[in-house]
Parts: sequence; C-alpha cells; structure tokens
Amino acid sequence: MPSISRYAGFFEVVEQSYMCRMKPAVLFSVQEQIQAELESAYLYFVLALQAKDRGLPGVAQWLKVQHDEEREHAMKFIEHAHARGQSVSLGDIHIKRVEWQNIGDLFQAILEHEQYITARIHTMYELAQREHDYPIFPLLQWFIEEQVEEEETVRTILDKIAMVGQTGSSLYLLDQELGRRNTSD
Ligand SMILES: [Fe+2]
Ligand SMILES: [Fe+2]
Repeated sequence: MPSISRYAGFFEVVEQSYMCRMKPAVLFSVQEQIQAELESAYLYFVLALQAKDRGLPGVAQWLKVQHDEEREHAMKFIEHAHARGQSVSLGDIHIKRVEWQNIGDLFQAILEHEQYITARIHTMYELAQREHDYPIFPLLQWFIEEQVEEEETVRTILDKIAMVGQTGSSLYLLDQELGRRNTSD
C-alpha cells in the first residue's frame, strides 16, 4: 500500500483546481465583458430610437428586443461572479457611433458588432482554459453557442435584404416581419 504522503502533491493540486473563487485575470475579463454587454445593450437602444424616428417601427422593435437580450447577457455574467463570491464594479458606458443610410448598412454594422463580441467570448474561453477556471466553462459554452445564433440571425436578415431589396413595399414588409420579434428567444 503506498502511503498517503505519496499523494500529497496530487491532493494539493486537486485542492487548488477546485477552488471556486475566480482567478484575478478571469474576474477582470468577466467585468470587461459585463461592460461590453451593457454597451451592446445601449448601442441597440440608441439604434432602436433612430429606427423609430426614421419610420421603421418594426426594426425599432427588433432592436429593442436585442437591447433586452444584451442586458440579460450582462446579468448572466453578474450572477456568475456573485455566485462565486466576487463583487462587480462597473465603469462608464462608451459606444461607437453607427452611421446608417439604409437597413442594409444597419444590419451589416450589427453583424460586425456581434462578430466583435464573438471574438471577445472566444478570447475569454482561451483565458479560462489557461487559468484552469473550470466553473466558468459552461457559462462560456452557452455564450459561444449564443454568438453562433446571433450571427446566423443577422446574416439571415442581410440575405433577405439582398434578395428582396430595401425600398418601397419590400422595406415595408421587412419592417413588419422584424416587428414580430417580441421575445429574446
Ligand atoms: Fe450579448
Ligand atoms: Fe449580441
């Protein structure tokens, strides 16, 4: 029978690996991502108001739901940090200006924004792996899948715009269709 001392090093590693408190680098990345999700929410809210002013109530509704969804994303990270005994502090909100002449421009800018968020999530996942932060893996997996859906949704809208055009009755019908979105599912 090997003595317990033979396993002492192993148990030390086990103890460290299963600590639920976040490593500082992972906590920092979570705080940054909470900020990025809230900035996304604010960006979509600004765009929703612009769409309303331009006579596109359906696009405005779609963007409002998108805003709600981004706030839910921020909450998912906040709840995860709190569950692990961390406090969260937030900085100021900064958003980029999106100039759009038509809904093709608008949804192209949205696709690029979502691709930027995807890249951030992938970088977080790589960091969590390097830091052996196992408890955050399922949450980041959820976000990885969510970003696939986000990009697919926006690409599908861009394909429709390319197919039917974005003026006159095509624009009217697209606006109506986008306005039917009423939950973040
Ligand atoms: Fe998000
Ligand atoms: Fe998003």
